[in-house]
Amino acid sequence: MSTAVNALKRCDEADAGPARTVAFEVRKANFAEHRLAEAPSPPLEPGQILLAVEKFALTANNISYALAGDRLGYWDYFPSGEPLWGRLPAFGFLEVVQSRCDAVSVGERFYGYVPMASHVVMRPTRVGERTFIDAYDRRAALHEAYNTYYRWDEARGGRPDLFPALNPLFMTSWLYFDYLAEKGYFGAEQVILLGASSKTGLALAHFLSGAAMGRRVCVGVTSARNRAFVQQTGCFDRVLSYDEVDGVIDLPSVVVDFSGDGEVVGRVHARLGGQIVLSSRIGQTHWDADRAPRDLPGPKPAFFFAPGHVQEGVAIWGEQAFHDRADQAWLSFLAAAETWFEVQRGEGAAALAEVYDALVAGVVDPSRAHILSLGA
Ligand SMILES: NC(=O)c1ccc[n+]([C@@H]2O[C@H](COP(=O)([O-])OP(=O)(O)OC[C@H]3O[C@@H](n4cnc5c(N)ncnc54)[C@H](OP(=O)(O)O)[C@@H]3O)[C@@H](O)[C@H]2O)c1
Repeated sequence: MSTAVNALKRCDEADAGPARTVAFEVRKANFAEHRLAEAPSPPLEPGQILLAVEKFALTANNISYALAGDRLGYWDYFPSGEPLWGRLPAFGFLEVVQSRCDAVSVGERFYGYVPMASHVVMRPTRVGERTFIDAYDRRAALHEAYNTYYRWDEARGGRPDLFPALNPLFMTSWLYFDYLAEKGYFGAEQVILLGASSKTGLALAHFLSGAAMGRRVCVGVTSARNRAFVQQTGCFDRVLSYDEVDGVIDLPSVVVDFSGDGEVVGRVHARLGGQIVLSSRIGQTHWDADRAPRDLPGPKPAFFFAPGHVQEGVAIWGEQAFHDRADQAWLSFLAAAETWFEVQRGEGAAALAEVYDALVAGVVDPSRAHILSLGA
């Protein structure tokens, strides 16, 4: 192993020697521990391509991947080759630097799931005008939404740096919003977001603050230090800090949890009990907090997993109509979000480690969108 990121060699020709791959790896059993691994990229087999990972976004979502790595298969996308160490997926941009696949050429750019690494090998199948699917053996059993790579079209995303930092999180919240709206909010008069400063939480608040909410109240609950940031987005009728959560108004409510903080979830359930019409668990940003007790008053929190809903949305709307609707909703969110978030770029292993450590410790400024690169 070495930390020589600068030793990276780029291959622009299909017959050039293999590049070295530098990868950020975390210890699966203790994801606060990480290292940089470096090895020659394997020679390509027929049908494979080598892609340089240009840049990727890092948010608390990627830390949650480590937490759920075994349960939801996140370690299986980009295996490190060593069972105790894992490569966390992130969303980012790629450029083809070698190709032994007739349908994909050197120089083409794609967007999708990437390892936090300099390079990655894929085996494209179903190559179309807009997408291909990575059919690399290990991925066959994983979610197709995460195995799909989009040809990057600058016009589609609006802001190339904000896209990987916000679009996947937006997608979750837009799908959840759609689900709530379609069900008439389950009769709720109030929607309470726990972990309201998260990007995923703010995306949901953006859609809830639109006209579709009618007279329903949207309440954001966050840590005291992030309260002002949440308030200034203007998406919430009320913003509470975690220690004020007992003050939520006694109304029929949907509770949406991005924090995974059992104590906070427990207090909301204790306060509202049978008034809770739906309790959803989306995230777990407070990864080291105790989980909620099993015998909570009110309905049992149910996990909402976005990739399953993408497939459902495509099945209901048809692929093109689903993507058109998603693109329109994205642009509406982006117009608001670009006034809330500032892109912070970092290059190299030290910059990546610094942001990763801050996310694990929970000290990242919620107004930052971190875009990183390992030097491809
Ligand atoms: N189920 C799904 O399909 C799905 C899809 C997308 C995202 N998610 C989940 O949604 C959650 C939010 O993800 P994100 O990327 O939007 O997060 P983010 O923007 O990076 O969230 C930042 C916020 O999370 C809290 N936080 C982060 N790390 C923390 C730590 N170590 N200790 C305590 N608080 C911490 C803080 O919020 P507060 O001060 O407000 O507590 C912080 O302002 C993640 O758990 C992610 O996995 C789930």
